[in-house]
Amino acid sequence: QGTANRISIQTSSPQTTISKHIYGHFAEHLGRCIYGGFYVGESNTKVPHVKGIRKDVIEALKQLNIPNLRWPGGCFADTYHWKDGVGAKDKRPKIVNVWWGGVTEDNSFGTHDFLDMCELLGTEPYLAANVGSGTVQELTEWLQYVNFGGVSPMSAWRKENGRENPWKVSYWGVGNEAWGCGGNMKPEHYANIYRQYATFMTDWSNSNKLFRIASGANGADYNWTEVLMRDIPHHMLGGLALHHYSVIEWNSKGPATGFSEEQYFKTMKQAWRMEELVQRHSTIMDKYDPAKRVALVVDEWGGWYDVEPGTNPGFLYQQNTMRDAMIAGMTLNIFNNHADRVRMANLAQTINVLQAVILTDEEKMILTPTYHVMEMYKVHQDAKLLPLALQTKDYAFGNDKLPAVSASASVDAQGRTHISLVNIDAKNAQEVSVDLFGGTTYKTVSGRVLTAKTLTDHNTFDKPENIKPVAFNAAKLKGGALNVTVPPFSVVVLELK
Ligand code: AHR
Repeated sequence: QGTANRISIQTSSPQTTISKHIYGHFAEHLGRCIYGGFYVGESNTKVPHVKGIRKDVIEALKQLNIPNLRWPGGCFADTYHWKDGVGAKDKRPKIVNVWWGGVTEDNSFGTHDFLDMCELLGTEPYLAANVGSGTVQELTEWLQYVNFGGVSPMSAWRKENGRENPWKVSYWGVGNEAWGCGGNMKPEHYANIYRQYATFMTDWSNSNKLFRIASGANGADYNWTEVLMRDIPHHMLGGLALHHYSVIEWNSKGPATGFSEEQYFKTMKQAWRMEELVQRHSTIMDKYDPAKRVALVVDEWGGWYDVEPGTNPGFLYQQNTMRDAMIAGMTLNIFNNHADRVRMANLAQTINVLQAVILTDEEKMILTPTYHVMEMYKVHQDAKLLPLALQTKDYAFGNDKLPAVSASASVDAQGRTHISLVNIDAKNAQEVSVDLFGGTTYKTVSGRVLTAKTLTDHNTFDKPENIKPVAFNAAKLKGGALNVTVPPFSVVVLELK
């Protein structure tokens, strides 16, 4: 921290790729994420859909270029038996969603629905398999069902159910939160279970290598990472997960809108913790895997508040304000800057649950401030990271303080440089001097900004465009120097050519 905001960006010889998979999403059978969010049923006459999948949602998500979508949970995944969700819909068993509100799950959205939807979205599926209450056989049969093109009982069943060719799914989660809802296991026990499951997770297609992801630590449980990295042979481990939510206190989370500056500050503090978590888990991973073969996969992140008044507490439905835009912008900057190890991540969750990018109400749909940040940041997907050094002023509140500015930068395949800047200061604009060194010459700068009148502003079904990105004119380029005035609580993405 310092008395001025200065960023030095090395513009020559970029090396690390910012994996597009950092910009992944997560859809659980929870509240109205799947039912009412993605899926309205094939007989719905009110909401335009393709085989029950909302058309408006597909169009909106396509604009984000979402690289992967995790499904069916979350905690739900370790209660999910995939065979319940294939075959004739009227014959599928109705089960209780024990984790999320105790509601009836009619299994009308299953494997075919999800994987076909991923094709519509142009995104890669990431299937979270049931380890907590499933069996090795159940998982190997799921793999065979979705990935095998030859003759086998499961591929024959898939064909009977209307799908000739396998979908070839690469990303597989081996359980979820094994330390908690996934089985309350100790890390040594889970490491053994993982080894057993992973052994039988055959790459049926032989053309797309399976990327297996181990259930990772709960926030700062560094011992979990230590044990898994030590005890699981790395050739069977594509990624190790990590979950971190920006929650003030689990028993007093505070409202999603109408929060105080104190609550805002506390949320920002939790969001900033991601930097420390990524650094410390990475350090442990470096010890066992200096070549960085195993990815750190932050497959659940985002803000978590009290549910909206009058809604089912088990549905985790919350509004989304500029505070969420701040979480998204700074978290994605953290992931970009650690792209050598963080190679996949999933915002929780896509629609109507936690830090959603989309909210729906029957036939209505709105895009949240978080959606707009994801859309503005898509320029970083698969671009080359430009390393930067950042000195920032403080955002002070009471006796505490946080870095006010965060940033990341990349150069894309067309040679365009993008810089994303976030100012979390609730009151003050930040003047930022950006020093571009390394010999690249830039002629123009343009950009967009996402901000609002107040921190608690949000989009509603009546005012869906209250918050949206607009052109940004407060960046001045002179020689190798760029000066930017970043308004309070705003996200700016610049393009230099
Ligand atoms: O995203 C909501 C829940 O949070 C997930 O089901 C679980 O994995 C986590 O605890």
